[in-house]
Amino acid sequence: MRDDIVDYLKSEIEHRCQLPANHFGIGCFYHIRAVAKNAEMLADIYNADKEVVIIAAWLHDVASITDYSLYEDHHIHGAVMAEEILTGFDYDSDKIRLVQQCIRNHRGSVLHSKMTVEELCIADADSISHFDSVPGLLYLAYVNKKMGIDEGREFVRNKLIRSFKKLSTKSKVLYESKFDQVMSVLE
Ligand SMILES: [Fe+2]
Ligand SMILES: [Fe+2]
Repeated sequence: MRDDIVDYLKSEIEHRCQLPANHFGIGCFYHIRAVAKNAEMLADIYNADKEVVIIAAWLHDVASITDYSLYEDHHIHGAVMAEEILTGFDYDSDKIRLVQQCIRNHRGSVLHSKMTVEELCIADADSISHFDSVPGLLYLAYVNKKMGIDEGREFVRNKLIRSFKKLSTKSKVLYESKFDQVMSVLE
């Protein structure tokens, strides 16, 4: 494991999330941290390259948090930024390519059948992260969007249902009980 790279990314991503240029606020750091945690777990289950998966997880939204104007195509810009950062660490070029593929396809859950297992881990971990961010979603609904109790609950429920639907078939089975638990609280 390239701990030097992972340690750098953890602190660099946290730092960028704290800067005023980050339009999404610190919640974005919690999201990325949750993606890294779930992606590491999925890497074991899917027999993926854990190092690539962890590095890709920390970098998958790097473009969005660095410059909001890149948000629309952040999967493409993020892959370019990842190459710059990882080349600076002399990281293996084949692994850089795999990290880039993970970043480019993290939003494309429909492409599951064509994906490498590493890409699948990142796409699924990105969707699953919402289940670790329920307080953040409630904050978004009630504080940011000023929704009423029922409206906010429906907003969060629908977001979680959409996220669950995006998961690959195997990950749906893995996360089914967590999904049911979270949804039962929001009944
Ligand atoms: Fe993203
Ligand atoms: Fe994300």
